[in-house]
Amino acid sequence: MSVLTESTIIDRLKSVKFPGYSRDIVSFGLVKEIKLSGGDVLVRLAVATSNPSIPEAIKREAENAVSTTPGVSSARVIIDISNPPDTGKGTAGSAVTGIAGVKHVIAVASGKGGVGKSTVAANLVAALQQRGLNAGLCDCDIYGPSISLMFGATQEQPMATSDNTILPIERYGIKLMSMGSLLDDSSPAILRGPMVTRATQQFLRQVDWSGLDYLILDLPPGTGDIQLTIVQTVALSGAVIVTTPQEVALIDARKASAMFAKVNVPVLGLVENMSFFVSPSDGKRYEIFGSGGGKREAARLRVPLLGEVPIDVATREAGDRGMPVVLEDPKSAVSSIFLSIADQLHRAVARVT
Ligand SMILES: Nc1ncnc2c1ncn2[C@@H]1O[C@H](COP(=O)(O)OP(=O)(O)OP(=O)(O)O)[C@@H](O)[C@H]1O
Ligand SMILES: [Mg+2]
Repeated sequence: MSVLTESTIIDRLKSVKFPGYSRDIVSFGLVKEIKLSGGDVLVRLAVATSNPSIPEAIKREAENAVSTTPGVSSARVIIDISNPPDTGKGTAGSAVTGIAGVKHVIAVASGKGGVGKSTVAANLVAALQQRGLNAGLCDCDIYGPSISLMFGATQEQPMATSDNTILPIERYGIKLMSMGSLLDDSSPAILRGPMVTRATQQFLRQVDWSGLDYLILDLPPGTGDIQLTIVQTVALSGAVIVTTPQEVALIDARKASAMFAKVNVPVLGLVENMSFFVSPSDGKRYEIFGSGGGKREAARLRVPLLGEVPIDVATREAGDRGMPVVLEDPKSAVSSIFLSIADQLHRAVARVT
C-alpha cells in the first residue's frame, strides 16, 4: 500500500475548482497548511471573500476530495476567511479598498472581447480627472495590454524604489500601469496562470497608487483568472460592464455581470459602445450592431445604462495617437458622453459606499 503524503493530498485538492471559475484552489494559493497523522488529514485554506456560500462550497468539495483519497480515514478542512473584501463601507484609503491611499476601485469589464473596454476605461479616467478628481488607470489585461498605447506611454518604464515599490508612469497627470510599458510591441506576454496572478497582484499591491480618488481597472475580456485574482486582492466599489448592442456581446455581458454578483461586487451600470454611427457626409444615423440591446439588457439586470457611445473615428484616432478623446477634444459630442458616464459613476459610488 502506498504511503499517504502531502503531495497526494495536494494533487487531490487540485480537482477542487474555485466556485464559478476554471482555476483550482491549489494554483490560486488558497492551501495554507496540510497536516497528516496516520490516515487523519487536516487541511487549512485561506479564502478572501465576503460571500459566505463560497467558503462553504469549497469546504464541501475539498472534504469530499480528501476523504475519498485512498488511505485517508478522516478529512477535516478549515477555512480562514482572510481579508474579506468589504465593498467599500467607510471613508478613506487602504482600509476600504485594500490599496493604500486609494478611495475607490472600479473595474471596467466585459464578457466579449473587443467591445471597447480599454477605450471606455481610458476615457473614463480622463473624464474623472477633467472633473477635478485624482484618477489612475491600471491595465489588468496582462496578455493583451493596450493602455500604454492609448496614452502614448509605450516607451516609458515605471521606476522602482529601493523598498521595491513600483512608481507608476504618469501621463497628462494620470497615474498609469500597464504591461505594455514593460514589454516591447512585438513581445507577447508569455506567462503561465500563476505568473499572471502574481503580476496582477503586483500591479495592485506593489504600485504606489496613493492619492487617488479613483483607480480604474481595465480588465481583459471574460470571467477568468485575472478577474478572480482582482476580486480576491482588492475591494471593488463596483464594476462597469461594456457591451455593444449585438446579441453575442449582450449574452457575455450577462455572464460578466453574474460573475460580479457571485462575489458581491455591485454592477454600477452598463455602457453600450459602438451604439450607432452618424455618417459625416449626410448626417444619417446607422445602427450597425442593432439598436436598443444595451437598454434592454440594463433593464433586465436592473442596472442603469450609463451611456450610449457612438462609433466615432475621432475616438479611435485619438486612442491610436496616444491621447484619449476626452483630453484631446473635451468639448466633442462623444467626450460629453464619457463625462456624463463619469458623473453618474461618481454619484453611484457615493450611493453604494
Ligand atoms: N466608440 C468607438 N468608436 C470607434 N472605435 C472604437 C470605439 N470603441 C472602441 N473602438 C476601437 O475598437 C477597437 C477595440 O476597442 P478596445 O481595445 O477599447 O476594446 P477592448 O474591449 O478593450 O478589447 P479587448 O477585449 O481586446 O481588451 C480599438 O481599435 C478601438 O480604437
Ligand atoms: Mg482592452
